[in-house]
Amino acid sequence: MKKLSVLLLSLITVSGFSQMNPKLQAKLEQQAKEMEPKVIEWRRHFHEFPELSNRETNTGKYIADFLKGLGIDVQYPVAKTGVVGILKGPKPGPVIALRADIDALPVVERGNLPFASKVKTNFNGQETGVMHACGHDSHIAIMMAVAEILSKNKNDLKGTIKFIFQPAEEGAPIGEEGGANLMVKEGVLENPKVEAIFGLHIQSMRPIGAIGYKSGGMMAAADNFSITVKGKQSHGSAPWMGVDPIVVSAQIINGLQTIISRQTELTKEAAVISVGRIQSGIRENIIPEEAFFAGTIRTLDEGMQDKIHEKIKLTATKIAESGGATAEVSIRRGTPVTFNDPALTLKMIPSLNKAAGADHVVSIDAVTGAEDFAYYQKKVPGFFFFVGAMPPDVDPATVASHHTPDFYIDERGFLTGLKAMLNVAVDYMYMPQK
Ligand code: NI
Repeated sequence: MKKLSVLLLSLITVSGFSQMNPKLQAKLEQQAKEMEPKVIEWRRHFHEFPELSNRETNTGKYIADFLKGLGIDVQYPVAKTGVVGILKGPKPGPVIALRADIDALPVVERGNLPFASKVKTNFNGQETGVMHACGHDSHIAIMMAVAEILSKNKNDLKGTIKFIFQPAEEGAPIGEEGGANLMVKEGVLENPKVEAIFGLHIQSMRPIGAIGYKSGGMMAAADNFSITVKGKQSHGSAPWMGVDPIVVSAQIINGLQTIISRQTELTKEAAVISVGRIQSGIRENIIPEEAFFAGTIRTLDEGMQDKIHEKIKLTATKIAESGGATAEVSIRRGTPVTFNDPALTLKMIPSLNKAAGADHVVSIDAVTGAEDFAYYQKKVPGFFFFVGAMPPDVDPATVASHHTPDFYIDERGFLTGLKAMLNVAVDYMYMPQK
């Protein structure tokens, strides 16, 4: 008996961080395997009946009823259609949050899955289909399974788990608030106060069984900017009679690219400025008074983000001034950097390794897309990771990307996500407290 406990102790500390004991680990793993068919069944249900951001009425109600059935305390609705479940273990420990996003997209599903979405709706005045084209259906199903397994094993929990089922990750409709930002505003990280938060995203281009993560900035902050250049209108044949806002805009647009290529420390983190819109003029032989253009800024580090914003203002106004024009710059901050707390990330890697096998857990390059999980990470340390769902016999180059009509995830990838989330949650609870 003594020998056994010594053996157990050495197993627990092999990673350098305390984890749940191997017996509990084995029990959770077994229950995760048994739960797999249910995860697939739930996912198919949500896939067939997807709902757009801030319109997840049936989805939210389904989740709330399910959690109530498990005996979990439920707050509903939160942030329009969201659900928060609170599961308190009998032993003292930290309060942690696990987050799943629940919304679908205005995409017409192609392909002939038996549970394909036939839902139609009107979005911004256009008729469209609705599809879980980013895999949030799998996030809901995985998190429901985590909730069911952990409520069954409640007596082994040290501390409290908040299950956050969050609407509108893709962005609230125009003129509405929503998503993680609204969840935080409505106090989801308070009462009881959350110490750490975890989330995952399924990926169509990562192989089944693989997990990817990055310490620090993993997904980009997405900010928008617009610039109005004012010159002086003149005849196209006599530009010296006016100030040409189109030529000045062209200079500014090139100038913006040199902020990235010449003034940004790209070995530290990547950054992107893209102009996606430009408007000016009405006729070939009239130099207009004004030009307008707008774009997006992607950054992975908050210090770089602030510097790039300042440089955009400086570059635009000074180039305009040199040409006798003026530039009005407006920058709107959007989703912040999805920043994985480095200390927390390091602590959680062993938990991912147990779920997927260390060979299948990889540190990845940053992604310049954004994810609103970032709003929670602005408030508390958080860890976000990717879970693969690409079938083994497929060339990644041919895989349909997220947000497209052919988007496809293989259900055999869900179990790894379920095991990873269980490990991360329970291992964290078993780590020594600060
Ligand atoms: Ni997504």
